[in-house]
Amino acid sequence: MTVRRGTVSQSFDLSEECARRLDRDDPLRSMGERFYRPTDTVYLAGNSLGLACQDAEAALQHRLEEWKQLGVRGWLDGEGPWFHYAETMGALAAPLVGAHPAEVVFTGTTTVNIHSLVATFFRPAGSRRKILAGALSFPTDLYALRDQLRLRGCDPQADLVLVPSRDGRTIAEDDVIAQLTDQIALVLLPSVLYRSGQLLDLERLTRAARDRDIPIGFDCCHSVGALPHRLHDWGVDFAVWCSYKYLNGGPGCSAFLFLHERHYERRPGLSGWFGTHKATQFDLNLDFDHARSAGGWQISSPGILGSATISGALQVIHEAGIERIRDKSLRLTAYLMHLIDGRLTQSPYDFEVGTPREAERRGGHVALERATDAAQICLAMRARGFTPDYRAPNVIRIAPVALYNSFHEVWRTVDELVNIMKVEDYQRFDATSVEVT
Ligand SMILES: Cc1ncc(COP(=O)(O)O)c(C=O)c1O
Repeated sequence: MTVRRGTVSQSFDLSEECARRLDRDDPLRSMGERFYRPTDTVYLAGNSLGLACQDAEAALQHRLEEWKQLGVRGWLDGEGPWFHYAETMGALAAPLVGAHPAEVVFTGTTTVNIHSLVATFFRPAGSRRKILAGALSFPTDLYALRDQLRLRGCDPQADLVLVPSRDGRTIAEDDVIAQLTDQIALVLLPSVLYRSGQLLDLERLTRAARDRDIPIGFDCCHSVGALPHRLHDWGVDFAVWCSYKYLNGGPGCSAFLFLHERHYERRPGLSGWFGTHKATQFDLNLDFDHARSAGGWQISSPGILGSATISGALQVIHEAGIERIRDKSLRLTAYLMHLIDGRLTQSPYDFEVGTPREAERRGGHVALERATDAAQICLAMRARGFTPDYRAPNVIRIAPVALYNSFHEVWRTVDELVNIMKVEDYQRFDATSVEVT
């Protein structure tokens, strides 16, 4: 099989030697040395929690030292002062999403940022009082949207319109666009669907929403760090994403938000003192006047220690280059699907790939589906030293991450799955007692 994308052409076969050859030809192969590997496992869950790297660790130690040595003076005297940390990290992340430096800020969490931006953009009026989202969106997005509807006196059930999926895996852009009626006051969609890994056409959806004067935002948790974006040029109104998946910021690390510069004059929907102008923040005025940048959408003091890792983690991504990351990621997932097709889809194994095959329609992970026993198979993989994750009812998500996974690891994963299926030892696992899957 040959995969073509731009100038890259890559041929695959089922042999282990092919994996070794792909690794030899990988321009990013040395990046993996910067990452810590959980012991005794092939890590395939970077779309859930990215791995720690030495650069992130050094950044964290550096901030800890500053706190020890500077105390409160760290806010202004730290190297890259804490006071400006959220804006500085926003500017550092901005090229990854095709934004101007001031359009991105590092703040809050994904869900809180959704609340804040929906509170900013959702202005129900007359018969235009519904929000459009997707039936396959991550649940937290829908929880937040229903609350925002409720807070505005709308009906959280009837006024949340969910674009249905035709196949249970994907959302068709045509179906979204068909629902952009004059009753819709806001759209919030994922960039990449968390279960199937489908990548939506953000440019097309944004154009369609803007043609109808409907603000549109995206939850980009599953795409930032895995592929390039052009949020500014596409004209996206707002976006949110976490830092703990493909950005490798670590568990609990702060999130990012993007606000297109044409919206700087809008009043933030949830205000807090860190959103005021930096120059006058410590005048402690009783009237809120927000900074005219994404920074105006901060609420509270940045978590310097808990989020110190991000500067190191982003540095690694910049060094690798987001285009090269995307390129390798596409080859890894194409290779994985090729191996699945060749070794796991036949009876009696009966696996299916739930991720779109086209490069421009998939994110960084592959959804390996099986009608029965997927949760137990995932546990069997973990017991044998492989860490994918499971999403009910039938998906094993496998994320070969360009920065630290190799083609050989992908080959070993499929080989081990074949072994598990041959001896059927997954039957002995009880998937009902697992809390985090
Ligand atoms: C698409 C998506 N959005 C939001 C979240 C949750 O984000 P947070 O816990 O930062 O609010 C997740 C978590 O995995 C996610 O996958």
